[in-house]
Amino acid sequence: MTYQQSIIPRSVEWKESYIRLLDQQKLPAATEYLHLETVEDVWDAIKTLKVRGAPAIGIAAAFGLALAVKNYETDDISKFQKWLSRDHDYLASSRPTAVNLFWALSRLKNSVQHARSAEEAKTVLLHEAIQIQVEDEETCRKIGEHALPLFNEGDAVMTICNAGSIATARYGTALSPFYLAKENGIPLRVYACETRPVLQGSRLTAWELMEAGVDVTLITDSMAAHTIRTKQISAIIVGADRIAANGDTANKIGTYGLALLAHAFQIPFYVAAPLSTFDPATGSGADIPIEERDAAEITHIAGCRVAPEGVQVFNPAFDVTPHELITGIITEEGVLSGDYLLEIESIFQQAKK
Ligand code: MRU
Repeated sequence: MTYQQSIIPRSVEWKESYIRLLDQQKLPAATEYLHLETVEDVWDAIKTLKVRGAPAIGIAAAFGLALAVKNYETDDISKFQKWLSRDHDYLASSRPTAVNLFWALSRLKNSVQHARSAEEAKTVLLHEAIQIQVEDEETCRKIGEHALPLFNEGDAVMTICNAGSIATARYGTALSPFYLAKENGIPLRVYACETRPVLQGSRLTAWELMEAGVDVTLITDSMAAHTIRTKQISAIIVGADRIAANGDTANKIGTYGLALLAHAFQIPFYVAAPLSTFDPATGSGADIPIEERDAAEITHIAGCRVAPEGVQVFNPAFDVTPHELITGIITEEGVLSGDYLLEIESIFQQAKK
């Protein structure tokens, strides 16, 4: 077991009669776990960000579907498939932007297309859900291996949101290289943007990097430009919720602003994401649905009102960074750059073989 694996708790764990979920809303004040026993519990946990981060949402939803089918009392496979479709669609309605949710749910549904009995389908679905989690851990480690050579010893690298261990099966995407650097004794420093409105950067990224002993400094989002200039930030690395066929990337609100800053300061801007975050069926960023969340996320901080009652609020959870601003997209298969349309098409052609 590596250093990182021994320290950071898993975000989602299958426990046969329930799903054990690290409650990310309680971090960093408390490390608490929820026992999700129904498909409604899983939907709610995703909706309310108790589990969040594109790959972790996919894993939770996959286990949610495996949990739902345990209660199907039928031997009739066509009735089973009908109920499965219903619960698939229900879980898919929890959040709209991260494509890993739909990818994981479709993968589960497809895995039992040819099942001959309800019992067989239940076994196959659980196996597939576990497989998604196992693969994600391997994938994230590979992303870290491809990302690490992009940095030099002592570099200070900026990130936003939490694309870390708890946003995935393990290691994270954008944070994976920092864990591998730690394992290999390579000093790297991380500047984490706090990530308003719900503070995934301060609550989650700062917490998990500190737990693992990675050098992390917290800044507010508005300090990014000043920090890049005065702290010699050498690169920016972020995760992704959905990458369109042309490389346009949806990620946590504020990412686009960082990409523009990277361009202005002429430093590389990297996106780190597994192939499960790509959506080749979506042509460009303009077609990616952007989730808008409750106004209270902006008008209140920790339950305390910080804006006048009745104020109009716009609260998009994500923004889209145009592919021209992205230096490279780091995947488990290597780093894509240049003509993303061609690169993405070719990587998916190869994956089919
Ligand atoms: O709203 P969230 O916290 O689910 O948003 C998460 C992000 O934007 C992450 O950067 C992305 O999902 C990648 S996680 C490896």
